[in-house]
Amino acid sequence: MISSKDAIQLEDQYGAHNYHPLPVVLEKGKGVFVWDPEGNKYFDFLSAYSAVNQGHCHPKITKALVDQAHTLTLTSRAFYNNVLGEYEKYMSEYFGFDKVLPMNTGAEGVETAIKVCRKWAYEKKGIKENEAQIIVCEDNFHGRTTTVISFSNDPDAKKNFGPYTPGFIKIPYNDLKALEEALKEPNVAGFLVEPIQGEAGVVVPDENFISESARLCKEANALFIADEIQTGIARTGGLLAVCGDCSCSGHCERQNSYTKPNILILGKALSGGAYPVSAILADDNVMDVIKPGQHGSTYGGNPLGCKVAMTALEVVDDENLAQNARTLGNLFRSEMKKLVDSSDLFVKVRGKGLLNAVIINDNPESDTAWRFCLALKENGLLAKPTHGNIIRFAPPLVMTESQLMDCVEIIRKTLENFSK
Ligand SMILES: Cc1ncc(COP(=O)(O)O)c(C=O)c1O
Repeated sequence: MISSKDAIQLEDQYGAHNYHPLPVVLEKGKGVFVWDPEGNKYFDFLSAYSAVNQGHCHPKITKALVDQAHTLTLTSRAFYNNVLGEYEKYMSEYFGFDKVLPMNTGAEGVETAIKVCRKWAYEKKGIKENEAQIIVCEDNFHGRTTTVISFSNDPDAKKNFGPYTPGFIKIPYNDLKALEEALKEPNVAGFLVEPIQGEAGVVVPDENFISESARLCKEANALFIADEIQTGIARTGGLLAVCGDCSCSGHCERQNSYTKPNILILGKALSGGAYPVSAILADDNVMDVIKPGQHGSTYGGNPLGCKVAMTALEVVDDENLAQNARTLGNLFRSEMKKLVDSSDLFVKVRGKGLLNAVIINDNPESDTAWRFCLALKENGLLAKPTHGNIIRFAPPLVMTESQLMDCVEIIRKTLENFSK
């Protein structure tokens, strides 16, 4: 058995230094808990950046993975496989779109959406080739590929990776006036947006931002593209963040608050953390611009990923994860609000469902939030700062109320004993 110290040393010596992990090594996970090699148990309050919404090693998802792994894992799309069609039907009905285009990672999903949007703009909207523009928001996070970082404004993500892909217009997040203005540009093909900006620090826009954005896009004949890779699959208290206040835990009529995107991008928890699965969904008028040979991926739509994803979505329904995220999210924020009111270190809590963040009273360059996360780890809870002085709190959605209250107690005690 390898010790935590040795595991960290090996990563440090042989792995590229493209991450700065908290000094904890995870060996085992079950539900909301993870363990290190020394047997210490922790509450996971990050859920692999919202990929493990269904909890670690969910038995149903693991069984689906193992059963399919014994049967057939990959055929490529050179041939049909007997699971992909069933998966595509399941996904289309589950999310209410005509078609799905399967990929693997989130960034690939975003790239796919950009390609489909541009092609739609040339072939359906009549924009002159190579002149399409896609509107994006400041402080966005949509992944790490060259095109995607081209429209980032995070210097770490972007600097020295140029030359960059052109064709993007950046506007402030949550600014409908700016969107309206940008949509006046005749070459606009679409608007790509996170319904809540996760990486930026769980920035929740005004209530009407999503629905009004979609309306403005429709008026301008531009595609409204929702990146729900982090916010989707029950994380924010609805099946999707674009579900607004709909509290159902699965596919429903979504009459009132639901805003249907022209392109929906999913990843992460689509597989419950068991396997990389991403997808875009769209109706025929958009998706039919893609013809054989124009887009694909060797692993995209493989039977293993398809089975895992269907099972992961079944778990979301069966265990009412959206409803649980909503209820526990309200409780968590009200408990954190008490700490905000009673301490100088916590300035603010914000979020939706079980995607939340606490702002620490120090500047983003300080190491206070990092040290607070180290103290949380010592007390048995794992979370990580995003953008310096913001701590994201996003546990698996299978958490119970009493587990959540145990976590609140850990955070409260840590705060009590923490000196800046
Ligand atoms: C909103 C959003 N889009 C895209 C991505 C990229 O996903 P992946 O890391 O699977 O490429 C992420 C990952 O954090 C994300 O949060």
